[in-house]
Amino acid sequence: MHNKVKRNVIVGQSGGPTAAINSSLAGVFRTAKDRGYNKIYGMLHGVQGLMEGRYIDLSEHIRTGLDAELLKRTPSAYLGSCRYKLPGIYEDKEVYEKIFKILEELEIDCFIYIGGNDSMDTIKKLSDYAIVMGSNIRFVGCPKTIDNDLALTDHTPGYGSAAKYIGTSVKEIIRDGWSLETSHGQIMIVEIMGRNAGWLTGASALSKGEDCDGPDAIYLPELDFDIKAFVDKCREMLKKKASIVVAVSEGIHTADGTYISEMGNTTEYVDAFGHKQLTGTARYLCDLLSKEIGCKTRAIELSTLQRAASHCASRVDILEAYEVGGAAMKAADEGDSGKMVVIKRLSDDPYQAGTEVKDVHKIANDERLVPRNWITADGTYVTNEFITYVRPLIQGDVSPIMVDGIPRHLYVPGYQDLL
Ligand code: F6P
Repeated sequence: MHNKVKRNVIVGQSGGPTAAINSSLAGVFRTAKDRGYNKIYGMLHGVQGLMEGRYIDLSEHIRTGLDAELLKRTPSAYLGSCRYKLPGIYEDKEVYEKIFKILEELEIDCFIYIGGNDSMDTIKKLSDYAIVMGSNIRFVGCPKTIDNDLALTDHTPGYGSAAKYIGTSVKEIIRDGWSLETSHGQIMIVEIMGRNAGWLTGASALSKGEDCDGPDAIYLPELDFDIKAFVDKCREMLKKKASIVVAVSEGIHTADGTYISEMGNTTEYVDAFGHKQLTGTARYLCDLLSKEIGCKTRAIELSTLQRAASHCASRVDILEAYEVGGAAMKAADEGDSGKMVVIKRLSDDPYQAGTEVKDVHKIANDERLVPRNWITADGTYVTNEFITYVRPLIQGDVSPIMVDGIPRHLYVPGYQDLL
């Protein structure tokens, strides 16, 4: 298909980081090398940094097999990330001219973007523009998001590791609650990321097993949140148990669409894609329960910890992220453009999955939510089907490479100055 001499590749990371996003970067790098590309560039802070001419030669960073292994175990986006929304392809020609000029100067054949639904909007627009301009550069998306809300893929790299951390942490929180002497009872509210999708919050149910009952209630953002019913339920639960743990999504909202997080705080921040920063849900609910019931409360916002916890990463997730990175590179090398790699599950037990490529136009800006029949009828828990779906994704460990008792990450001297 493309018989001419292979030139260069550029890869970027975009959106919220995960514990597996750098494993995909390692997979893109390895496959690009194996397929005979010359230079493999990494754009710093995604397409936003690229427009400022900011990129590195990845071969200077991933020099040995050990570097690649460290990269797979390094959380956050190694290349730096961005939340930048490209204008429509006919809205601001200058932006596209600037990007394509840099790509031509760098002699790029393949552009790989590791990101979520907003980042796939970038792949969609750049591949559309390439068609309009008759450019041969291929643009392929590599899925990533802890939110697990990308369309057409069984799940997204990054989700399994975050789910494992959440299941583990919620179990430890429940256990902590057992130890306390609380005459008035205690309610702990654990706030979990995921924006409008409850995949991560539902993963709190993974804590349930022979040695743990799991959270007492789980509230996903797929359903409207009834504040009064919530307070009543908490009051009832406290009559039976001294320590109650409730998992709530950061995105729970009342029937009129108001996020609970907006009720208690004054955070005004909205990102380039118009997403409000969701934070403070647990704090608001704890204050409310304390006022209404008079019990002790604790608000636990898992926040950054749930997406940065590479010490608790899932082996399935890290290996899949690597493979998906390789599959994105392979697709671009074989001539695909305007596509994203998806994971297709073949079986739950034993867990087996493979990859395919799908049209990014059917994925960008969409949100895949937890199906209603995977949430219990009363809306306060997830079903066994949900657990069967998520459990294979959290299996196995990736031992951190420990130095002085702390996990080692990939670090190249002078690297921080580049970001
Ligand atoms: O998109 C992934 C995500 O982790 C969401 O779950 C969360 O709402 C958002 O990113 C938070 O992003 P930031 O750290 O930029 O506030």
